[in-house]
Amino acid sequence: LGLKIEQMSKVIAVANQKGGVGKTFLTFHLAHFLVEKGFRVLVIDLDPQGNLSLVLKLLSGWRPSCQTAEIFSSENISFEEIQAGLRLVSSDITLARYEASSGGVNFYFKLRRALKKYLAREPEDFVLLDCPPSLGLFSLSAFVAAESLLIPLKPEIFSISGLGDLLRVAEEVKEDINPSLRIMGLVLNAIQKRTRIGRNIQAELAENVSIPVLAQFPASIKAEEAMRRGEPVWKVAFGTPLAKALREGLTNIWQRL
Ligand SMILES: Nc1ncnc2c1ncn2[C@@H]1O[C@H](COP(=O)(O)OP(=O)(O)O)[C@@H](O)[C@H]1O
Ligand SMILES: [Mg+2]
Repeated sequence: LGLKIEQMSKVIAVANQKGGVGKTFLTFHLAHFLVEKGFRVLVIDLDPQGNLSLVLKLLSGWRPSCQTAEIFSSENISFEEIQAGLRLVSSDITLARYEASSGGVNFYFKLRRALKKYLAREPEDFVLLDCPPSLGLFSLSAFVAAESLLIPLKPEIFSISGLGDLLRVAEEVKEDINPSLRIMGLVLNAIQKRTRIGRNIQAELAENVSIPVLAQFPASIKAEEAMRRGEPVWKVAFGTPLAKALREGLTNIWQRL
């Protein structure tokens, strides 16, 4: 009768092996955007630097924990509730030892298996995976587990060559291991509108990369301020160009999820 069984939860990886491009900034804002829309969101901090855990815990009170490590030790997902609808699997530097350990190929499937088990009993609408700035165990585990990949990028001189490596690895995972992985597109972040380099790189991207640009966020001091307060930019600096660009860009991403 035309009834379609929808996929229960969407798993989205936010990745780029370059640091400081806005992975954590994007994950934080996408999570809040979806929670404000009434969805249930699970966020997994896959970066041993624990930046996302730190900013999210500003809201709920900081406690030391590294729940992400449990995923790689026992395929178990435990979380803390940050606010209604928002759950965090937090990380800290103790996660780093898994990156160096020789767990073999089995390690790359632990996140996928842990999520499958978890989602069978906990109906989340979205799972967001904030990746570290490397193409190691944690980013690859995210590609193995995710259905969608978002790539934040700063329009800078070296960002395009790195992008080629990232896309190649994601395509390899897609072909060999996870055919459901969809490279959704790029998010251009911290754009300096007035510089010629910024404009040239955007033109170069449009010429050389065939994946779509889903959102564009201007550089703004409000980004840092929001992260420091643990609140989204549209709360800290309502009506500013960055707040407006976030609303517009995140709406576009959400409509394509
Ligand atoms: N649009 C922006 N304008 C200015 N600063 C930004 C912007 N987006 C992010 N930042 C800042 O840049 C730094 C790096 O961002 P972050 O999200 O931590 O990058 P990544 O997770 O990719 O390493 C952070 O201090 C963040 O607050
Ligand atoms: Mg980060």
